[in-house]
Amino acid sequence: MKHLLTTQGLSKDDAILLLDTSAQMAATQSRENKKLPTLRGRTVVNLFYEDSTRTRISFETAAKRLSADVINFSAKGSSVSKGESLKDTALTLHAMGADAVVVRHSASGAAHQLAHAGWLDAGVLNAGDGMHQHPTQALLDAFTIRRHLVGNVGEDGRGIDTSAGADLAGIRVAIVGDVLHSRVARSNVYLLHTLGAEVTLVAPPTLVPVGVETWPCRVSYHLDETLEQWQPDAVMMLRVQRERMSGGAGGAFFPSPMEYSRKFGFDARRLAVLPDHSIVMHPGPMNRGLEISAAAADHPRSVIVEQVANGVAVRMAALYLLLSGDDSAGSDTTSTAKTSTDERNAL
Ligand code: CP
Repeated sequence: MKHLLTTQGLSKDDAILLLDTSAQMAATQSRENKKLPTLRGRTVVNLFYEDSTRTRISFETAAKRLSADVINFSAKGSSVSKGESLKDTALTLHAMGADAVVVRHSASGAAHQLAHAGWLDAGVLNAGDGMHQHPTQALLDAFTIRRHLVGNVGEDGRGIDTSAGADLAGIRVAIVGDVLHSRVARSNVYLLHTLGAEVTLVAPPTLVPVGVETWPCRVSYHLDETLEQWQPDAVMMLRVQRERMSGGAGGAFFPSPMEYSRKFGFDARRLAVLPDHSIVMHPGPMNRGLEISAAAADHPRSVIVEQVANGVAVRMAALYLLLSGDDSAGSDTTSTAKTSTDERNAL
């Protein structure tokens, strides 16, 4: 595996390898000494053109836990403000010997461009490009779902994860809210489908993208009906991306925040109709009181904080497989990542 750009086309074998490697990485993170020597001498650049808290910090933590050298680049305060192009920035990173570039950009396709334009040799990890893809978010979501709903780690998430090698066959996931603007939804729909889960998107018609009928999922415009009749095992709430909406509080997409919340917000009342084993998820950052109530976000069945913690293990796995894997298998996210069992057992 040379790059990780999208979950669309990621094979089931590669997805399970990423999840299993994440589990091995997670196990190392409960030790007193969390650091592994695996990527000593390698350089990872975090190239962030768009704001981030969780993804940027967890990629930095992941690279440092693997002993890589880390360079953090934020477009704010860089020569981008003087008009420098993505190409010239990439050539600069190439000149500095970057082995992997983690990129977040507001333009859909920026990560693909960086990986394939011939500007640098480094592996590229997409940390979110516009409304397109956020593959490591989907992987950490799938990892969290697998631990809880297949691996029996218990409500507090501290039990032994028994899910190694498993897929998500038969698990029902409702993804609710601003699907239109969401790279998290797009990434999750494809990955969850590949892993055998059933996905229903729930949103007002104005926040459902054109062409959704070609996605491998169902679509509903009614949250209460979906929760009561379909009984999802996991409910993944999406942030209302007001910065991508022009106009008033909800742009032209919904009449008012209060109405959105009433019809599509997740709260303790809606949680009560779900099966007892169900979990509540959100990629963050949350608009508390809009798409999710504080009571639901902080409920014992919410795994939102655990999602953040799992992000470190998943990003360690992605960096490890990209930088330590056998490139001969192929050159993109869809190729089989070949890493010897001995090498992984040594983690
Ligand atoms: N979930 C997520 O991508 O969060 P950040 O924008 O804080 O990185």
